[in-house]
Amino acid sequence: MKKLFEDNINSVLPSHDAGVKAYDRLRARIRYDDVESVASLNQAYELYQKAADPCSFYNVKVQKPDERFEKIYALMKHIFEVQVLESKERLADSIIRTELGVHKFPCIIIARAFTVPGTQLYDDNGNLTRFSADAVGETEVIVSFVSGNYMPLKRSYTGCAIGAVGHLATLSRFRRNQEHRHGSSVLKAFLETTSIMARERKERLTLVAVEATEDSKGFWYRNGFRWAQDTTYAQPPLAFNTETGDPIFGEVPELLMILPMRGETAISKQLLKESVRTMYVNWCLDKYRRLPRVDVKNMIRHYVMGKVFRQFLSSLNEIEGEHVPLIAPPGV
Ligand SMILES: CC(C)(COP(=O)(O)OP(=O)(O)OC[C@H]1O[C@@H](n2cnc3c(N)ncnc32)[C@H](O)[C@@H]1OP(=O)(O)O)[C@@H](O)C(=O)NCCC(=O)NCCS
Repeated sequence: MKKLFEDNINSVLPSHDAGVKAYDRLRARIRYDDVESVASLNQAYELYQKAADPCSFYNVKVQKPDERFEKIYALMKHIFEVQVLESKERLADSIIRTELGVHKFPCIIIARAFTVPGTQLYDDNGNLTRFSADAVGETEVIVSFVSGNYMPLKRSYTGCAIGAVGHLATLSRFRRNQEHRHGSSVLKAFLETTSIMARERKERLTLVAVEATEDSKGFWYRNGFRWAQDTTYAQPPLAFNTETGDPIFGEVPELLMILPMRGETAISKQLLKESVRTMYVNWCLDKYRRLPRVDVKNMIRHYVMGKVFRQFLSSLNEIEGEHVPLIAPPGV
């Protein structure tokens, strides 16, 4: 009976009401006194419900370049454009250096997942595509994830740090889930982790920054992030040709949104400058620090700090006073 149910379901997946229809159809065919078949069908149906419509989720830190990391990277590739994505090798190296305690800017990756019995298959949007009624083993599915860094600041902000979110996403099937709010949940876990790190390192966490896209600014706003008003911001190229020093892709315009730790409604220009400089160094320059060709290294540095950072500074200079108001982004 289990096998029959499984076959029936798999012929119509990923249709959402596949399970109910298959159940009703098979249930009608079972003789009223065939208790064993009813129990077997009920068991298979229960497993299907768990697999197709999970209701229990957990957050977990990814601290090794393991199977979970592989799954997250595959999702990143599915959701984000290649120009805003770090290479898998670099991200894996970042995780390893963080675990060894030698990363200047520790990397934080948190996954939100559910686990279901049996070997179940899902597509990249989170829909069940192949159901197994055999409850042997289990399948873990990641529905949401966040990656970013804890970044200590320098110069007049020595002893302070910021959190910087690199990527955060929820599989489309699980977005805007009023009951679970998966994206907000991984973000909260990220914020808690940065706060704990600051406490342990005896540093003061001043803010958390994110490079928001047009489509996600509502999400960030809802979670307390505000636009540093009138700033022009871009994510510098994440990869350069190490022979020529040319960027592989151009910079990507984004919106700089800030979550101030003490609920401030404005941020000092000085702190903003130091935060963005630190993000650029960590995300774009640090990986080229051991490049043997000094001329190429200088070209890369010049592109990131001399061009992209300078454009950001120019926008800051046009704002009057020493502080930048933190406000709702345009259109929210
Ligand atoms: C942005 C994203 C991560 C939100 O994930 P999510 O799991 O749907 O988020 P939540 O359910 O926690 O949303 C909480 C609130 O944020 C707001 N919100 C979420 N997505 C929004 C959107 N696309 N537009 C406007 N507001 C949004 C809503 O107020 C929502 O609450 P509501 O559903 O009760 O109205 C998800 O849409 C996504 O993965 N987008 C593609 C990747 C991306 O743009 N990532 C961000 C840039 S790094």
